[in-house]
Amino acid sequence: MSTDRRPRPPRPSTPARDAGGRNAPSRNGGGRGVRARPPQPRRVAAPRPTVQPAPARQPPVAPAPVSGEDVDLEHDGVRLQKVLAAAGVASRRGSEELIGEGRVEVDGRVVTEMGRRVDPETAVVHVDGQRIPTADRGKRLTYVAVNKPRGVVSSMWDDEGRPDLPSLLPIKLARRTRLFHVGRLDAETEGLLLLTDDGELTHRLTHPSFGVDKVYVAEVPGPVAKETIAAVRAGVEVEGRTVEVGRFRVVAGNRSRAMVEVTLHEGRKHIVRVLLDAVGLPVRRLVRVKFGPVPLGDIPPGEHRELSRDEVGALYDLVGL
Ligand code: URA
Repeated sequence: MSTDRRPRPPRPSTPARDAGGRNAPSRNGGGRGVRARPPQPRRVAAPRPTVQPAPARQPPVAPAPVSGEDVDLEHDGVRLQKVLAAAGVASRRGSEELIGEGRVEVDGRVVTEMGRRVDPETAVVHVDGQRIPTADRGKRLTYVAVNKPRGVVSSMWDDEGRPDLPSLLPIKLARRTRLFHVGRLDAETEGLLLLTDDGELTHRLTHPSFGVDKVYVAEVPGPVAKETIAAVRAGVEVEGRTVEVGRFRVVAGNRSRAMVEVTLHEGRKHIVRVLLDAVGLPVRRLVRVKFGPVPLGDIPPGEHRELSRDEVGALYDLVGL
């Protein structure tokens, strides 16, 4: 697998400093016989956007046009079978069969006619009751789970040149400029991180109001006392706010070490480490094993897999999309 990983590109150079001389020393106050002008309020030009060279691995990618025959979004949208095929539901032929069988709903209504066109940006499409993501002009969106190893930063580009998330992906995926990571893990934490170019889903999954469950397994010194378990379950205060623990249990252990499983709805930085430290359980190793309905499963460290249609549908359901 490692052969098709992207080579590390040259790091982008620091943008050139202002060449307009705005920082040049003032020349109006030094001449003999010239009265120094009182300081004038400086007119401040509106900041100009800095033009950064695009990193080599992330060239701006224009959204792929959807072929002419099907698209006239302004007037009539994209054929439903094409939208379904682009979303990976089935081939166009297979999608036509699904439509014919009455298994496809658009905006809450079953559609059986073949010529139906929809706007993939706004249409709410279900197949067999399951929500199908159709955004991005009918282009297929990407949903990937990676098993982040220790030492990799949760970033799509690291200024310090440390291993980052695209370094775990094949070039084809790493070059997708619009891929976001859904939340973060500490560099020292391992496990499940989702990546997608579905902006609305990312926004909702990471918004505290949705309180998506995250499950972690931590290695701590053993044995873990009953009182400690009770204390964590009762709620520990961290930085003035109680950490609400959905679930806490010891899943394995002996006299010198224990594996504890913690389920949290919140995503404060270092929260599991700080929480367990607060009850006398310093974390030796931390792995995220589940994000909402998506399990880490058997993805080897440093590898990835695409989410299944069911998993994407379950994420959509979870955040009310
Ligand atoms: N809690 C932590 O302490 N670290 C993580 O990476 C995630 C949750």
